[in-house]
Amino acid sequence: MTLQIKSLKQYKSVYKKSVKDPEGFWAEQAETFQWQKKWDTTLEWDFKEPSVKWFKGGKLNITENCLDRHLKDRGDQAAIIWEPNNPEEAAITYTYKELHAEVCKFANALRANGIKKGDRICFYMPMVPELAIGVLACARIGAIHSVVFAGFSATALADRIKDASCKMVICSDYNSRGTKNIPVKAVVDDALKQGCKSIETVIVHKNTGGKIKWNKKDKWWHEVMKRRRSTCKPATMDAEDMLFILYTSGSTGKPKGVVHTCGGYMVYTCFSFKNVFQYKEGDVYWCTADIGWITGHSYIVYGPLLAGATTMMFEGVPTYPDAGRFWQICEKHKVNQFYTAPTAIRALMAKGDEFVEGYDLSDLKVIGSVGEPINEEAWHWYNEKVGKGNAPIVDTWWQTETGGIMITPLPGITDTKPCYASYPMPGIQPVLVNAEGKEVKGNDVEGLLCIKFPWPSMIRTTYGDHERCRQVYFSAFENMYFTGDGCRRDEEGRLRIIGRVDDVINVSGHRMGTAEVENAINEHAGVIESAVVGYPHDIKGQGIFAYIIAQEGIKDNAAFEKGVRATVTKVIGPIAKPDKILIVPGLPKTRSGKIMRRLLRKIASGDASNLGDTSTLLNPEVVNAIRKAAGV
Ligand code: PRX
Repeated sequence: MTLQIKSLKQYKSVYKKSVKDPEGFWAEQAETFQWQKKWDTTLEWDFKEPSVKWFKGGKLNITENCLDRHLKDRGDQAAIIWEPNNPEEAAITYTYKELHAEVCKFANALRANGIKKGDRICFYMPMVPELAIGVLACARIGAIHSVVFAGFSATALADRIKDASCKMVICSDYNSRGTKNIPVKAVVDDALKQGCKSIETVIVHKNTGGKIKWNKKDKWWHEVMKRRRSTCKPATMDAEDMLFILYTSGSTGKPKGVVHTCGGYMVYTCFSFKNVFQYKEGDVYWCTADIGWITGHSYIVYGPLLAGATTMMFEGVPTYPDAGRFWQICEKHKVNQFYTAPTAIRALMAKGDEFVEGYDLSDLKVIGSVGEPINEEAWHWYNEKVGKGNAPIVDTWWQTETGGIMITPLPGITDTKPCYASYPMPGIQPVLVNAEGKEVKGNDVEGLLCIKFPWPSMIRTTYGDHERCRQVYFSAFENMYFTGDGCRRDEEGRLRIIGRVDDVINVSGHRMGTAEVENAINEHAGVIESAVVGYPHDIKGQGIFAYIIAQEGIKDNAAFEKGVRATVTKVIGPIAKPDKILIVPGLPKTRSGKIMRRLLRKIASGDASNLGDTSTLLNPEVVNAIRKAAGV
């Protein structure tokens, strides 16, 4: 059984051992899984390349570990509980036996539709059980899944399909969210018109039964599932074979496909799940994330199922039918571990305490936060109103690239402090460095957060562009993985994530590159140039502030802004729409032509009191003009 740490003393000794002998430590953890063939070498690595190989030569199939190995002892236990958008509809439960059968049937259907090991399959689906079944079916036959969040636009979807040359898209007809019925298949139709030549088949899951257009490549999910066998021989995968690609934004260029592999990802997501949530037999665990993000991959699907847990999936939104929905679901299903994002906490807090107060939340043992810094006020509200002071908050820091939770309190084991992700997981070696790459030692210090030794679930490459992976993560500082985050270590050694130090903004926990949003804005015919920065936003954490130099002769500013927002929605999706747009006569640039974002960030935050040295600007006069336009 995967190790579950029970005390502070044990955490300290396990951590020490895991750092002294990481290979020995992870080999011991890996032994607790089902391998078709044991590995030859535990770890080979060179961050210069970068090349990281965990459990080389080992053969496995992750779904045997998620499903088959649980059949004997917990075949009739709920594996997935699905709670629909509509609270009047009944929840659906898949036991481990049923989930195993569904996954095998769909895996057989994929094979029958020409899918082979190594093929890439794109998912564009709402939060329905078929999404979890689908990704597991891919893993069963060694196909590589690339899940695209169903809020992205057709253009964004097409870019991701093309980048990975996906052979198949799997989607739903519609997405039921709150009172909305959002077209999903129509977006796929639109994407396929944008040059996705590699797509041979589109599988459509009937979710709401709404009207859709039917094309030559389309097949119904329920049709391809007919008469499929409920067993399916799992593909034999090498530990370092690709398991999935997940696109995420960086500070430059288009989103990149982060690649995770089978063996290390399995070991780390299971280990971290069991320890961070202290999951016990019979508990009901709920993570409210979307499977379109890494949190859903690691802590709705893989981590919990590997650990034999009962994991809940929710189709809807936190505010439908009212702002008590999360708590109503917690009460209804007697949820023991609840994992959500600060944005959701802040949004619900703003609606008033009456929505949480009437519910019985006494089953909650651990409550978690992920994706962005949680501010002190939200932390206390979460602690008092949701956890009732009895359920420790795990403020978990990690990234798409890290595959699993890296820095976090262990509930009931290590202490908690508002806003602090606190302590590294066993096997994780965080370091703070200064701009020159020199380690900042001691306590009560700040620096750039790096990780100095490989861990099993770390990024292996960016799909189709290994050099980009090297450049972004491994070239800034020698022999270290650079996270892109700033971090503070307090007097007692706890870590607090301050936020991104690059041009990445985090809006409601959604990660976006400023360049990506600017490129989208610039597609609007009335835009000459734009610069995007993040600014503090009460609910979203960060909002998007766009400074735009517009073509002359724009008469109706409101219509122009509406047009810009529509363009961004079309190119990326509604999540990237600027919250504030300011038309400016120019942008502050250095003599080398670089936009001085520091100034724009200050002005966007409403504080122009101390703008620092602007004498190196090519056009210092523009600063006052921007301040005037912004009214600060
Ligand atoms: O800036 C950090 C922030 O989210 C970034 C990673 O985003 P993404 O890859 O989309 O993954 C989000 C879910 C794991 C990080 O670089 N972040 C994530 N968790 C925290 C956080 N910032 C502060 N506190 C956290 N707990």
